[in-house]
Amino acid sequence: MSTTIATFNPEIHLDAAAVLLAERHARDRGREPLLPSAYEVPAACRAAIEGAFDHSGWHGVAAKDGGEVVGFMIGAPQLFPPTHFLASFFPPRSVAINYPSHAAKAGAEYDLYREMYAALADHFVERGYFEHIAGIAPTDAAVGEAFASLSFGRHSVAAIRGVGPTERRAADVEVHQASSEDASVVFALAEELNLHHARSPIYWPYLRETDPASHDMNAGLLADAANAHWIAYEDGRPVGMDTFMQPAFLTAMTVPERTIYLYQGIVTQEARAGGVGTALLSRAAAWAREQGYEHIGLHFAAPNLQGAKFWQSSGFKPVEYGVRRRIDERVAWADR
Ligand SMILES: CC(C)(COP(=O)(O)OP(=O)(O)OC[C@H]1O[C@@H](n2cnc3c(N)ncnc32)[C@H](O)[C@@H]1OP(=O)(O)O)[C@@H](O)C(=O)NCCC(=O)NCCS
Repeated sequence: MSTTIATFNPEIHLDAAAVLLAERHARDRGREPLLPSAYEVPAACRAAIEGAFDHSGWHGVAAKDGGEVVGFMIGAPQLFPPTHFLASFFPPRSVAINYPSHAAKAGAEYDLYREMYAALADHFVERGYFEHIAGIAPTDAAVGEAFASLSFGRHSVAAIRGVGPTERRAADVEVHQASSEDASVVFALAEELNLHHARSPIYWPYLRETDPASHDMNAGLLADAANAHWIAYEDGRPVGMDTFMQPAFLTAMTVPERTIYLYQGIVTQEARAGGVGTALLSRAAAWAREQGYEHIGLHFAAPNLQGAKFWQSSGFKPVEYGVRRRIDERVAWADR
C-alpha cells in the first residue's frame, strides 16, 4: 500500500469515513456484543463523526491509497476552565481524538494510524497542544497497539454491566436514597473520592477551586428525581455512596439502550473491603431494574487498584479505554 495523507475535508472524505467507522464498529461489536447495533449503519456514524466539527479548531487527516480513503483521524481541542467540575480529570489544554473520530481499513490499522497520527500531531503541537487523548475500543488489539507504539498509555476505562444482582456478600448496612437535605453528606463523600484519586498510584490532582462547581453538580443531581444518590449508613454514620445520572459522559457508540450512569462510587477508607460497596451496588442495581434500566455504565481510573478490581469483579466489562500522551513541551524550542 502506498499511502498519502490529506487534510480531512468533510465534503470529500465524510462519506468514506462513515463507512470505515461503521465497519470498525461491526468488528468491535463482533468482539463485544454489548455495543449498540445502531452504529453499524454509516448514517449513524456520519453523525457521530460530525460531533467533532462542533469544536472550534478541529483538524483531521484522511489516509488515501490511490483514490480510495483507507483511514481518517480527527482531533478536537478540549479547553477546560480551571474551575469546571471536570477540571481535575482533564488537562486544561488538550486535543482529543474521540472514540468516533478514527478508523482505518481492517488489517492495515497499525501503519495507517501511525502515519495519520504523525500528521495530526504535527498540526496540533505547532499550535501548542502537548496533551493528546484518544478513545479506543478495549478489544481492538491493532488500534491499541498502534496508540501504544505512539507513546499513549491507558488513563481511564469506561465499563458496562447489566442490572442483575451482585454475587459477592454484601455488608449488613442501611442504604437510603439521599435528598437535597443530605447535600453535605454527599459533598463529604464526593470529597473523599477526589482525595482517593489524588493518591498513589492514580495521582489525579484534586483542585480545590473546582469544589463550588462540583457542589453545584451534585446539588443539581439531588434536585432531579430521575437521578439517585444511594448512601450506606453504619451505626448512623455515612460510610459510602453510589450516585446515578443519565450517561452523558459515556460515548454514545459504546452505550447500550436503557443505560444509567454511576457517576460517583465511594466507600470511606476505614469501611472498605467489608462488603459496603457490594451493598450499595446491590441496592442500586435493584433500583435500576425497577426503573426499567438494563445496564449500568461507569468510568474508573485505569491505575485505581481498588476501583478497577471491584468494578470488574462485580461484572463491569470495559467498553472504552481513554489513552493519553503528554509531549515534553520543551520540544517547542528544543528542535533546532
Ligand atoms: C471500590 C470500592 C467502592 C469498593 O467498595 P468496598 O466496600 O471496598 O467493596 P466490597 O467490600 O463490597 O468488595 C470487596 C472487593 O472490592 C475490591 N477491593 C476492595 N478493597 C480493596 C483493596 N484494598 N485492594 C484491592 N481490592 C479491593 C476487591 O475486588 C474486593 O473483592 P475480594 O474481597 O473478592 O478481593 C471501595 O473500595 C472504594 O471506595 N475505593 C476507593 C474509591 C474508589 O476507587 N471508588 C471507585 C471510583 S471509580
